[in-house]
Amino acid sequence: MTTNQQRGTADIGVTGLAVMGANLARNFARNGYTVALHNRSRARTDQLVAEHGHEGTFVATESLEELVASLAVPRRVLIMVKAGQPVDDVIDQLIPLLEAGDIVIDAGNSHYEDTRRREAALAQQGLHFVGVGVSGGEEGALNGPAIMPGGPEKSYEALGPMLEKISAHHDGEPCCAWVGTDGAGHYVKMVHNGIEYADMQVIGEAYDLLRRVGGIEPAEQAEIFTAWNQTDLASYLIEITAEVLAQKDEATGGPLVDVIVDEAGQKGTGRWTAISGLDVGAPVAAIAESVFARSLSSQPHVREVARRTLAAGIESVEAPQPADREEFVEDVRQALFASKLVAYAQGMDMLAAAAQEYGWSLDLGTIASLWRDGCIIRADLLDVIMKAFGGRDTDRHPEPGTRAEGQPVNLLFAPEFSQAIAEALPAWRRVVATAVTAGVPVPVFSSALAYYDGLRADRLPAALVQGQRDYFGAHTYRRTDRDGSFHTLWSADRSEVEA
Ligand SMILES: NC(=O)c1ccc[n+]([C@@H]2O[C@H](COP(=O)([O-])OP(=O)(O)OC[C@H]3O[C@@H](n4cnc5c(N)ncnc54)[C@H](OP(=O)(O)O)[C@@H]3O)[C@@H](O)[C@H]2O)c1
Repeated sequence: MTTNQQRGTADIGVTGLAVMGANLARNFARNGYTVALHNRSRARTDQLVAEHGHEGTFVATESLEELVASLAVPRRVLIMVKAGQPVDDVIDQLIPLLEAGDIVIDAGNSHYEDTRRREAALAQQGLHFVGVGVSGGEEGALNGPAIMPGGPEKSYEALGPMLEKISAHHDGEPCCAWVGTDGAGHYVKMVHNGIEYADMQVIGEAYDLLRRVGGIEPAEQAEIFTAWNQTDLASYLIEITAEVLAQKDEATGGPLVDVIVDEAGQKGTGRWTAISGLDVGAPVAAIAESVFARSLSSQPHVREVARRTLAAGIESVEAPQPADREEFVEDVRQALFASKLVAYAQGMDMLAAAAQEYGWSLDLGTIASLWRDGCIIRADLLDVIMKAFGGRDTDRHPEPGTRAEGQPVNLLFAPEFSQAIAEALPAWRRVVATAVTAGVPVPVFSSALAYYDGLRADRLPAALVQGQRDYFGAHTYRRTDRDGSFHTLWSADRSEVEA
């Protein structure tokens, strides 16, 4: 790194001006910051200035050298290029241009392990590298996203106020707070996306049941979802579901949802969440099932063969009678709520496990507070979740791997949620049983219920699994009645020895 003595006056530089970078740059400018602009190919820079230059003060630059030279010290350079190698490429080009104390921000969807690696490398050069999770899509980036910054806590002094200003706000509080060191910001964003996958899938399962068992067409379902948006399900995703279901296709005159190919895409953050759940030993089955559901949907050729080959045995159930129909709709609503709650509980549990694994001090109450607005999973429920974890306290930094005092070990143990789930339980069981009978796949409804039943079971068949492991691999087992590890001499006289 050579010292660049040039000092400019711009508050922040943004490199990478595709939709997300351009919208974040405009958001900074609209909030009164002077924003230096750079893009690998100049056309995007010119387009932004031509179309939106009047929204604030922009400094268009031609090269990264020019971008860096235009910035006030400590320099804040926000990278918003395609995730992966391009981020490393840009960092490599920036390093020689910066000086100690400058801040490099990656606000794209980078993998948290990449962020950990980059943070460590830049720290050696005296630079602050901050991985920032940003949620809210294009619109959020422009008008106020949820922002989850990680990186060195010190960097937050110079960067935090700016990020907080452009973030969404909820009850006057910014949906932005420093969440933890190195890759913590990107990790929290990743888990947000994992929860988002599960949230979308449970809504999909509810829709499928209402349609295939309840016989309720999309237009009427739109009204049901609109009504549900006035209940404890109130959320952005329920709101947009109603809009999608109400949408008519211009070409056919039928519901738009009927002409959309039923293969769900994914860009990777849900898959990363499931993989990391496995890595840190957190049972995020609802999240993983939602990723698998998208994968299954995206195998059209296998599905085509399966429809012909495995056609036998698909039962049809009779649609509920009108009197029962209302009850069925309410049952599905409750099953949706309970399943959704489990997905959130699993995501939060995973954050705590990752905190222990990576030495992060994550405060679950504050993290929940960041998701109350601006992001895709924003929902009234997040306010309740935040309160269950002791509310928002940006100064509360529990020891890595521990919960702050008074925070429940599992979200479902918070009294308001254990009560809510207990009330929803009969409906949840009825819905899963009906779905199984009807042959309607509900992987997240049923997996969430299995998680709930597994958590609170007196005895799990894990005892038998341990016996099997001891049999074929002498892996030993512990006993319920005394301390120590034991092994049965399976291939000898089957007596038990202490291991
Ligand atoms: N789209 C969303 O809703 C959304 C939401 C949250 C987060 N994100 C994340 O935000 C980031 C940006 O997303 P995006 O959709 O705005 O853009 P994108 O399509 O992911 O990337 C395009 C941008 O990257 C630049 N780029 C690509 N390779 C480069 C390289 N080797 N060196 C320098 N620049 C390079 C492109 O420059 P050129 O113009 O020169 O090609 C362009 O500015 C991604 O990490 C994405 O995952 C996106």
